Amino acid sequence: MSFKITINPTENSKISDFDPNNISFGKVFTDHMFICDYHDNEWHDPRIVPFGKIPMSPTLSALHYGQSIFEGMKAYKTPNGEITLFRPEENLNRLNRSADRMSMPHLPKEIFMEALSKLVNLDKDWIPSSVGSSLYIRPFMFATDDFLGVKSSDNYSFMIYACPVSSYYAGNIKVKIEEHYTRAAAGGVGSAKCAGNYAASLFPRNLAQKDGFDQVLWTDGITHTKLEETGTSNIFVVTKNGVYTPNLTDSLLAGITRDSVIKMIKDHQIPIFEQAILVEDLLKWHSNGDLVEMFVTGTAATITHIDCFGFRDEKYNLVVTEDLLGFKLKTELELIKTLQIPDTHNWVKCIEQNESIIA
Ligand code: COI
Repeated sequence: MSFKITINPTENSKISDFDPNNISFGKVFTDHMFICDYHDNEWHDPRIVPFGKIPMSPTLSALHYGQSIFEGMKAYKTPNGEITLFRPEENLNRLNRSADRMSMPHLPKEIFMEALSKLVNLDKDWIPSSVGSSLYIRPFMFATDDFLGVKSSDNYSFMIYACPVSSYYAGNIKVKIEEHYTRAAAGGVGSAKCAGNYAASLFPRNLAQKDGFDQVLWTDGITHTKLEETGTSNIFVVTKNGVYTPNLTDSLLAGITRDSVIKMIKDHQIPIFEQAILVEDLLKWHSNGDLVEMFVTGTAATITHIDCFGFRDEKYNLVVTEDLLGFKLKTELELIKTLQIPDTHNWVKCIEQNESIIA
C-alpha cells in the first residue's frame, strides 16, 4: 500500500492535568493513539486520533481465541531536547516474529516507524525528562473478525498508545522460583509476546504474592530445574566467575534489554555465559558465597535487582549495594538512551521533530 497517516488532533488535551513530578507506571495516557486496520490482505487507513475507547463487537475474535500480540518500547528526551527511541527495529522484528507464531500478518516497517515518529512528535510534551522516567510506548495487534469459529482471523487492528512512566518496580524485588506451574512449553508460544502468556502468569504470581514475593521466577516446563524468566523480564545471575543468563529457547522471550545488557557486559570484557542456569547451581552459589547479585531486565523493569529468592519453603536473601554491576549497567544504559555517552552500537534513533525517524 502507499500510505499517508491522517491526523485528527484532539481538541481537549489532558496535558495540563499531567504532573511530570508525580508519575506512576501505566495509569496516565497521552492525548493521541495510532490505528491501522488490516483487511483484504493489506493494511488500510493509518490514522492518529484522540486517545479513547474503541468500538468492538462481542464476537471480536481476539477476545475469544486470543490472537493478540504487543510490544513495549520507550521514548526519551535528551538534555539537548532531542527525542530518542531505543532499538525500535528490534521491537518491529519481534512483533513480526510474534505475528508469525500467532498466525497474524506482518506489519510493514514503513508503517511502524512512521506511526511512531508521528505519534511521539504529536505527544512530545508528554515525554518526561527526569532521571528514570520516559514515555512508554505500547504497539499492539489483535484479531477483529466477527466470527464464532476457531480460525486465523482475516481482519486485524494495529494500534499504538503511549504513557509517561517512571520505574515499573518501586525498588528491589523478591521472586519465587516456581516448580509447579509452567509459563511456556517447548514448542509453545513462550517466545511470542502474546497476551495469553501474561494472562497465564497471573494466577501463579498472585499465589506468590500471598507468600510475600513480587514475581514468579519461572523454570522450564519439563524438568522445572532450569531458570527461565520472570513474569515481566529476563533474568541475570552475577557470580564471582562471571554473569549467567538463560540461553534463548522457544519458551523464553528474547528481551531487547536482555540483548543490550549482554552486549554491554561483553564491552566491559566481563565473562557472560548464555546457558541453562540450574536451580541447583544457584543454591550452591548462594551457599558457597559465589553469588554476587541477581537482576532482571526488561523495557518496563529496565534493570531491577532481586534481594530475595524463594525456593520451596526457604527464602534466600541477597545483599544489594549501590556498587553492583547491575546498577552500573542501568546508569550506562540510561545515559546511552539519552545520548549522554557515546552510543557505540548505534542503538539510538533520533526522531526528527515533525519529520520521520532518521535511520
Ligand atoms: C515490557 O517490559 O515492556 C513489558 O512488556 C512487560 C510488562 C509491562 C508486560
